[in-house]
Amino acid sequence: WEHSSLSICVLGASGDLAKKKIFPALFALYYEGLLPPNVQFYGYARTKMSDEAFREMIGGTLACRIDARERCGEAQEKFLQRCFYQAGSYDQAAGFSALSVRMASQEAVLPRANRIFFLSIPPNVFLDAAGNAADVASSRTGWTRVIVEKPFGRDAASSRELADGLSRHLSEDQIYRIDHYLGKELIENLTVLRFSNSVFEPLWSRQHIRNVQVIFSEDFGTEGRGGYFDRYGIIRDVIQNHLLQILALFAMEQPVSLDAEDIRNEKVKVLRSMKVVGPEDVVVGQYRARGKLPGYLDDDTVPKGSLTPTFAAVAMFIDNARWDGVPFLLKAGKALHRRYAEIRVQFRHVPGNLYRSKQGSNLDAHTNELVIRIQPQEAIYLKINNKVPGLGLRLDTSRLDLQYNTAYQQAALPDAYERLLLDVVQGDKRLFIRADELEAAWSLYTPLLHSLERQKVAPELYPYGSRGPVGAHYLAAKYGVRWGDLN
Ligand code: BG6
Repeated sequence: WEHSSLSICVLGASGDLAKKKIFPALFALYYEGLLPPNVQFYGYARTKMSDEAFREMIGGTLACRIDARERCGEAQEKFLQRCFYQAGSYDQAAGFSALSVRMASQEAVLPRANRIFFLSIPPNVFLDAAGNAADVASSRTGWTRVIVEKPFGRDAASSRELADGLSRHLSEDQIYRIDHYLGKELIENLTVLRFSNSVFEPLWSRQHIRNVQVIFSEDFGTEGRGGYFDRYGIIRDVIQNHLLQILALFAMEQPVSLDAEDIRNEKVKVLRSMKVVGPEDVVVGQYRARGKLPGYLDDDTVPKGSLTPTFAAVAMFIDNARWDGVPFLLKAGKALHRRYAEIRVQFRHVPGNLYRSKQGSNLDAHTNELVIRIQPQEAIYLKINNKVPGLGLRLDTSRLDLQYNTAYQQAALPDAYERLLLDVVQGDKRLFIRADELEAAWSLYTPLLHSLERQKVAPELYPYGSRGPVGAHYLAAKYGVRWGDLN
């Protein structure tokens, strides 16, 4: 550690992700003393900019999660002094060589030099940039790791092409495929919840669970990102990666150990047991204007008449002994009424329920439901039936409630990128996607994506700020399910 330097370079440094997430996360790690003493940060992008201008650009986005006292301001200054900028194109070696020379001048004082490249760049320059980054890999006995952000292709074939291309430049060992949902506190906790509590694991199967819902909802549209989004749509943007990853962690068998390979072996296994999603198991939607709020098609960067879905609900099934017949419903949408992400587990009705007559006709309102709220206001709660205290016998649904902000008296939780970047520095791959995992994920969604596009399926329109298309309710109802977020 003290004999190695670390150079971290963000390619696409003037992009949104770099400004909003990557540099603030790097600062947080630096501030907490989690990076080696000889660490340097580099921004690389096409725009010409001086180090000073770059520092000014990222300086405005650095926040102090832990405390906002003087010390933090000082740390920001020190952090910025370690930030440098190199302009260059992604597909030409010259810029990379210049970058490498600058890195080397800082690295020279220590015997070992490690380098991390974060590829936060458009897909069309991905392979060239990876090749150039590999060419300036650390030559001084250290390691070089490359972080790649989605989109990992648009379907199984293009993803395979990308994977083959990457593997010509880098070994699997060096590649860190990020899915930032895996870095969220409650997602990391999912396996802890399951495998370290004897009250949950025995219930985790078709015997007791009626359905599982993974819900992602945003209260803003694609404003400003329409050009990117239109090429992908909500299924590729959120469902095939973030929500499917959550599902895999939720449903996998217990891994042999907490080792990265053991965990990912189980994820691949459960992904491969899932049924390929068919067109009958999906509902797609697109938001339209409401009052002053613009519709998707009002975005100038979106092609006229685009059929790209900004909402989708999908029913998935796992063909194994544990989950046979249990519907897993995934729902994601932009421009909806609220921003939240959660997992809802609805348990079976109590057989021969003694209190049936006290519970009214809506059985669903009384099923036990475990809710894992990923964001905002992280929480885990279990809905149970309880006697309303007092004379007489009246039942209602109450909560066993774990709210993170009151249970854990600590400052805000670390951002997902903080956790994941630290993992890269430490070489921990548990929360990164392995090549075969990615392939399994694409194979579940590729036929559906192709069929939606080939058949030009028109998305159901829903007003900006609503709860999404009605079709999502019909899809759930087809499997006897009611979305838990409506209760
Ligand atoms: C990204 C998607 O991966 O995740 C965005 O490309 C989405 O469309 C974002 O808004 C949501 O992330 P978070 O952490 O804000 O929920």
